[in-house]
Amino acid sequence: MKLSELKRALAAAVTAARASGKLMRLNLRAVKKINEATQHDIKLELDVRCQKRIEKILRATFPEISILGEEGLLGDQTSEYRWVVDPIDGTVNFTYGIPHACVSIALQRRAGATNYTTLVGVVYEPFSEELWTAIRGQRALLNGTPIRVSRRAKLNEAIVSMGFAKQTVTLNEMLPVFNRMVHRVRKIRIMGAAALAMTYVASGRFDAYVEAGVRLWDIAAGGLILECAGGDFCHQAVPGKEHTYRILVNNGLLHRKLAKLL
Ligand code: IPD
Repeated sequence: MKLSELKRALAAAVTAARASGKLMRLNLRAVKKINEATQHDIKLELDVRCQKRIEKILRATFPEISILGEEGLLGDQTSEYRWVVDPIDGTVNFTYGIPHACVSIALQRRAGATNYTTLVGVVYEPFSEELWTAIRGQRALLNGTPIRVSRRAKLNEAIVSMGFAKQTVTLNEMLPVFNRMVHRVRKIRIMGAAALAMTYVASGRFDAYVEAGVRLWDIAAGGLILECAGGDFCHQAVPGKEHTYRILVNNGLLHRKLAKLL
């Protein structure tokens, strides 16, 4: 895709994210219809409605590009390009009326049998109206202004965000990490929306973000935004688990020190 096409893709993703975000804003304090709930996860009827709204806008602009969404697939999944969509990231926060949730949309291009490169990323937090955008090769922006990661290199000055994902196995993996890390860093933050944790690192608010068992749609857009802000998008696929990763996202200065605590 040429730069002009990437800009068109970014514009479509921003329109879709704002449309989904509007639905989220209107419904933050409403009682939500729960489609499915497990101990550590909730799926809302509104997740599906938001994804449908996003799909409609993206498919109207790029009918040939497939969609891989948290709430389902659309189009030919073998196509060269795909959108990776999380209509509501931070669903549990949103369900409880906590205004810390977002929309995450990435455009990826196939780069091998199973590999993809993210070309465009959009993360939109509709309650304080923060919009992060990135096109590969350009600076990441927050509401149109360039951002960059923090310059903190000392662990004892770092704020590290953590995610525990949704399963007993991921909770059990991360709790010892929490125990080790909490004594070494300035603060640990567990905010409940992976895509926002990524953009907070990209914006220099957090210095790192660690999680095991995070899904592709939670990190694809934020990963590009982070890289375009000078950060280290360190992620490893979890073997045997489709679209699932271990991440050690950081400002590029803390990787070694944090890796020792994992
Ligand atoms: C979840 C949130 C949470 C993270 C989980 C994600 P969802 O996404 O981002 O913070 O710890 O790994 O799956 O279910 O709210 O879209």
